[in-house]
Amino acid sequence: MKDNNQRFASWQSPSNIALVKYWGKKGQQLPANPSISFTLDNALTHTQIEAIQTENQSQVSIDFYFENAKNPAFESKILAYLEIAKSEFNWLANHKLIIYSKNTFPHSSGIASSASAFSALALCLCDLHEQIIGVSLPNFFEKASYWARIGSGSACRSIYGGFNLWGHSNNITNSSDLHAINIDEQIHQNFKTLTDTILIVEKGKKSVSSTQGHALLKEHPFAKLRYELADANTHQLLSILKNGDIKAFIGLVESEALMLHALMMTSPTPFILMKPNTVAVLEKIWEFRNQTDLNLLFTLDAGANVHLISTAEHNEQVQNFVKNELVGYCQNGLYFRNATGQGPKNIKNA
Ligand code: PMV
Repeated sequence: MKDNNQRFASWQSPSNIALVKYWGKKGQQLPANPSISFTLDNALTHTQIEAIQTENQSQVSIDFYFENAKNPAFESKILAYLEIAKSEFNWLANHKLIIYSKNTFPHSSGIASSASAFSALALCLCDLHEQIIGVSLPNFFEKASYWARIGSGSACRSIYGGFNLWGHSNNITNSSDLHAINIDEQIHQNFKTLTDTILIVEKGKKSVSSTQGHALLKEHPFAKLRYELADANTHQLLSILKNGDIKAFIGLVESEALMLHALMMTSPTPFILMKPNTVAVLEKIWEFRNQTDLNLLFTLDAGANVHLISTAEHNEQVQNFVKNELVGYCQNGLYFRNATGQGPKNIKNA
């Protein structure tokens, strides 16, 4: 039993994969265009926080453990985030946080963990807020999405399971730059069982971070056109997700992935995050789809790894394809299979 000076929260939160990409931001972590993603079930961060009451302190105080070891690099990132979060969670001025965080996927496997990490952290903060202030937050998940966004933009889409949209767009009800909204009610049966096999083409740190990548859009000659296209693609994808047109889905999602990388290659300081094996995998996927006409496609994050997306009815063929033809392009043969996830879980009492 914890006494009243000691509170405890524990949340598990997933990563998500964008279909229409967020690339470019404005203001305080607001997106330059709307984006749509689906939530994964097997790339999770588990975070638990103990909040211990202290005297008033001028700076937030934490002990941060990642996979049971002190991690100064992550700790300073989280401290900077919590200094911002203090404006909402003012009890951070008189509580010390002991934070334990771990991932279900290997660290530095090249899988972006900031979405799962900041969504788990934001959920813990909202949970502790309710305990310390003693009131229920009327829009708990919306608040968590807002604060996940401040940590890492794409993290705001990890607060709900299924499909999520972030960013304001005309004629999309409730769409907001401040937090994501869940759009599961509008999804056709064809898209309810998507899987994402993440093929680890390259492990480890990227040569250019997302933060640097977003910043390069500021001076980008194609930025305005990109934001218009992304907005149009968001509307287009919403109608595809409603009407169940898989072929149109494949075309749009692959074009979005390649446009993201084309933006990198054409920025004023150009860079390439794809590796030769990335391109080899994309070609294999196209070749296999041409031969079999199966519903499978790729998308890319800001990195070299390939997300192979398919519908569940082709599971066996797709997994055989991965084992027989793609695994050789993966570093150490590494890949991770994800189904569409149900979203975060409160595991305080688990
Ligand atoms: O959330 P950030 O700042 O790491 O940006 C993520 C950007 C992409 O992963 C490339 C696209 C997206 O919408 O998730």
